[in-house]
Amino acid sequence: MRNTSKKHLDNYTFNRQYSTCKPNITTEILNGLLSVPKHLSPKFFYDQKGSELFEKITNQPEYYVTRKEISILQTNCNDIANTITKTPQHNISLLELGSGNSTKVQILLETLRPNTYIPIDISETFLKENTLKLTDAFPWLNIHAISADYCHALPSLPPNLGKKVAFFPGSSIGNFEPAATLSFLKNIAKWIEPTGGLLIGVDLIKSQETLNLAYNDLDGVTAAFNLNILCHINRLTQAGFKPHQFKHKAFFNNAASRIEMHLESTIEQSSVINNQTITFKAGESIHTENSYKYSIDSFSHLAKQAGLKPVKVWTDSENWFSVHYLESI
Ligand code: AVJ
Repeated sequence: MRNTSKKHLDNYTFNRQYSTCKPNITTEILNGLLSVPKHLSPKFFYDQKGSELFEKITNQPEYYVTRKEISILQTNCNDIANTITKTPQHNISLLELGSGNSTKVQILLETLRPNTYIPIDISETFLKENTLKLTDAFPWLNIHAISADYCHALPSLPPNLGKKVAFFPGSSIGNFEPAATLSFLKNIAKWIEPTGGLLIGVDLIKSQETLNLAYNDLDGVTAAFNLNILCHINRLTQAGFKPHQFKHKAFFNNAASRIEMHLESTIEQSSVINNQTITFKAGESIHTENSYKYSIDSFSHLAKQAGLKPVKVWTDSENWFSVHYLESI
């Protein structure tokens, strides 16, 4: 009989890589909490529990984002693969930023047939667990997992990847502020040189009612996800936040074209990190996330500014979500 456990790992390597310019985590958290208004980076949502809760969000009926993107990828996977492979190349590597549970990439693997898949995620155990599952299902695929925080700098890549195609699904790009979005896209353009592409999921502007519901699901999963950031911060800093003394708030800010998530303190309270006291008035909140929404044109415009050429866009019938393919010029 074939030794499946050895075969299992033949096509898998793992690498831990954190960008050198990453500031000290406690300082980063403390700076945010001592600012006016208080804020935390949404990357702190994704500890093990947070990654699991996010997965649960994607199954909520109100959260259309994941379902719409998956259906766009399924309907168009042949066209997407044809568009990416239009220019002749020997091999393709697919580099996924924030690979999570690697559900979406599996739709593309059979049609695109890349030589190498490089999943990159901040949550190390989650990344290992999920990409190991892929080794069995895709024995022909080289998988090189990288655990990294790609917010500040993109991880360095192994050599000889052929045509590099970055995959950034889920509208995670929406978490970046407009200026940061531009520099992030510029960094991607450099990262995929000399010949490469970017396949990116971008959530679209739509009715405020639909947007507000998507971030206020009736089962309270998004609320639990938002509140879990405090548990993660407690573990990282010993702040001792009491999640039950905060309330989930999410709404569409039309002027800024973004969903905002906040945690509102229900009472007057304080916490201490590194001998520094963080005080809350009743009703004062921590801003935990922005999720920017674009039009197809506004996103294409931004991509062009970053030196990426819009090649093709796929959407669903309601125009709720878009998947853009862009190439380095
Ligand atoms: C992972 C950033 C795309 O903004 O929709 C889901 C995160 N926050 N529900 C999003 C999120 C609350 C999600 N992104």
